[in-house]
Amino acid sequence: MTGGELARAWDDAADGYERYFVPRFAPWVDAAVGVLTRARLPEGPILVPCCGTFPELPALVGAYPEREIVGIDLSPGMIALARERAAQWPNVRAVVGDAATLDPRWHGACAGVVSVFGLQQLPDPAAALDNWVGALRPGGLLSVMFWPPEVEQDGPFALMRRVLNRHRPPGDDSWADRLGDTEPVSFPMSHADAAAVWRAMAESGPARAFANARGEEFMRAVEREFLELAPIGPWHHRPTASLKVVRKPPAMNGVMNGPA
Ligand SMILES: C[S@@+](CC[C@H](N)C(=O)[O-])C[C@H]1O[C@@H](n2cnc3c(N)ncnc32)[C@H](O)[C@@H]1O
Repeated sequence: MTGGELARAWDDAADGYERYFVPRFAPWVDAAVGVLTRARLPEGPILVPCCGTFPELPALVGAYPEREIVGIDLSPGMIALARERAAQWPNVRAVVGDAATLDPRWHGACAGVVSVFGLQQLPDPAAALDNWVGALRPGGLLSVMFWPPEVEQDGPFALMRRVLNRHRPPGDDSWADRLGDTEPVSFPMSHADAAAVWRAMAESGPARAFANARGEEFMRAVEREFLELAPIGPWHHRPTASLKVVRKPPAMNGVMNGPA
């Protein structure tokens, strides 16, 4: 899939993603952002690669109201919603761009990098992570939450993956092993029923790109497979994400600032 196709899929998904997934993913966003808001950071901007609609922003700006905070996302539709969220803060920007390789001007310049649920979508997550660590200045802190290849044994995310995998070539899951130590982070999540979570994943989640590529009729057939295997009624599950935290060693005479 090209970057343009991926961006268009997230444009199509943006409104529904904000409505359905942002509230459900909030505990993971809090956990990732909390690493930075509880820490002492050096001077400098905070970057948020793959910011989507920018749910990371309120807690970040609450802790660091004077900082330059920059969200970066491939999808103009996501960035339009991110700009609405950021409008009240003049020191915050949301820009359209490829977060896989940051603009070289960020290299060694940033106090913090925080990213939630974008890394696993990048073509080479380990290379992107190296690039993001390279953006930190001495004493800077990176906190990245991502979905590993297997997030649960059971539950709608596992079933979606199983059903879609019947219709696509096997992916290479070895990228996660190249990211070094991570911490598992799980929270409960609930859906009204299997049809509701299917609709959200297919229309407003990461499967939107697959849906756009394969067309409506095909997706209706896959939906039937999913619903046949899914439980009846409300669906509760507990997916497990991975959290990667990296602190760049401080300079010997570095000045550190806590939340303002
Ligand atoms: C699941 S959303 C997460 C958004 C937000 N961080 C959150 O926690 O709700 C993933 C986002 O990654 C973005 N994305 C995917 N590939 C990207 C890339 N190469 N550069 C920048 N953003 C990218 C998508 O456009 C999408 O908005």
